[in-house]
Amino acid sequence: MKRYIFGVLLAVTVLTLTGCTKSSGFDKLDQWTESWKKGQQTYFGYPCNQQSALHDFYEWYVGTGLDRVNLNNAGDPMTDHPWSMSTQAFEREVIEFFTPLYGFDKDDVWGIVTYSGTDGNNHGIYFGANDLMNRTGQLPIVYVSDEAHYSNMRLCDLQHLDVRLIKSDAMGRMIPEELEASLDTTRPALIVYAMGSTFKGAIDDIEALNAVLAKHPSMETYRHVDAALFGGYLPFTEHQRMVSSKEMHFESIAISGHKFFGIDSPSGLFLCTRKVYDNQNNFNVTYLNGNMKMISCSRDAVQPLKFWWLIQKVGYDQWSKQANQMLDCTAYLEQELKKIGWPCWRNEYSNTVFFRRPSPELCSLYNLALGYDEAFGGELAHLVVMQHVTKEKIDGFVKRLTND
Ligand SMILES: Cc1ncc(COP(=O)(O)O)c(C=O)c1O
Repeated sequence: MKRYIFGVLLAVTVLTLTGCTKSSGFDKLDQWTESWKKGQQTYFGYPCNQQSALHDFYEWYVGTGLDRVNLNNAGDPMTDHPWSMSTQAFEREVIEFFTPLYGFDKDDVWGIVTYSGTDGNNHGIYFGANDLMNRTGQLPIVYVSDEAHYSNMRLCDLQHLDVRLIKSDAMGRMIPEELEASLDTTRPALIVYAMGSTFKGAIDDIEALNAVLAKHPSMETYRHVDAALFGGYLPFTEHQRMVSSKEMHFESIAISGHKFFGIDSPSGLFLCTRKVYDNQNNFNVTYLNGNMKMISCSRDAVQPLKFWWLIQKVGYDQWSKQANQMLDCTAYLEQELKKIGWPCWRNEYSNTVFFRRPSPELCSLYNLALGYDEAFGGELAHLVVMQHVTKEKIDGFVKRLTND
């Protein structure tokens, strides 16, 4: 009964806040809309910013009649070409905005707005393998931690690359000694660093791992950073150097757009050095006026516009505020869980807390993501503190946990 009243109150609050009760004219669709609105408020298990700032973007978009224009970003946003029904001028500005934040030089960068973090990793692994092949005549071995996101393993499988899964420590960071022991120095090394492993929120110690690679100067290397979630907020904190190519010496990085940035559907960023881009295989496409080095031909033209819009409307200062609030609330969550004696753990720089798994009802109510690790007593769940997870909501969660 309590849960029912809670649900009704939430629904009323959401409807009041959004002011949206418009019917689609289809019952099934209306019911579905109501159900996700309720769920959104207690959606704590996955790293999506549920406070998308795109409402006025949609008003503008429909208002101008752009919803009736077929846009397509086919082609390279960093190269001029004749196809004009695109938003590549804005895409280029998005990449320019993020270039210094990820520690690239504006004269030595190439990038695109991707379909997702996975699409960015696909480019990182594909570009890395090509770069190493063209430098050495040999395909690389890919080294990635056993806690990294599965997309990296899937993409190596897709690209038929040899992979070595490197053991991570209990908190989820790749163990440098394990990397050292696994290296085959007769072949080039493509290493994927996890900048926020998916379940435990671990950041691979890039400096220590780079030091391992540096012991083998004759082995050619390429370093890609999978920073799907953490690459969103870290540039706006005092820990910016963690995602800086200048400081951490990586060749490429992939970030999701729908996580920290709150783009309302999958999207992302991929940036790499110009040298890497220039060392890709050429497939000359005359009608697009250039060498098309990215994987997809047609590319979404609306996502770059949304990114561009958010840069203008939210921008550096607001993102800094949000990023610091998230880390502050994460520390608060950890503190409150410890206060009630609920076993919990958190990595440095992380907005993810993992803890002993609560009841299935609570996991379902808060949409918690589930994990399992004997080293932490077996069944676990995690909560990702995004912009919509405030201290008040954390209090509500901890109170329910106490009664669980
Ligand atoms: C570390 C990491 N890499 C990659 C991905 C995949 O990103 P996307 O869902 O944007 O494809 C995720 C998704 O959760 C992730 O956590």
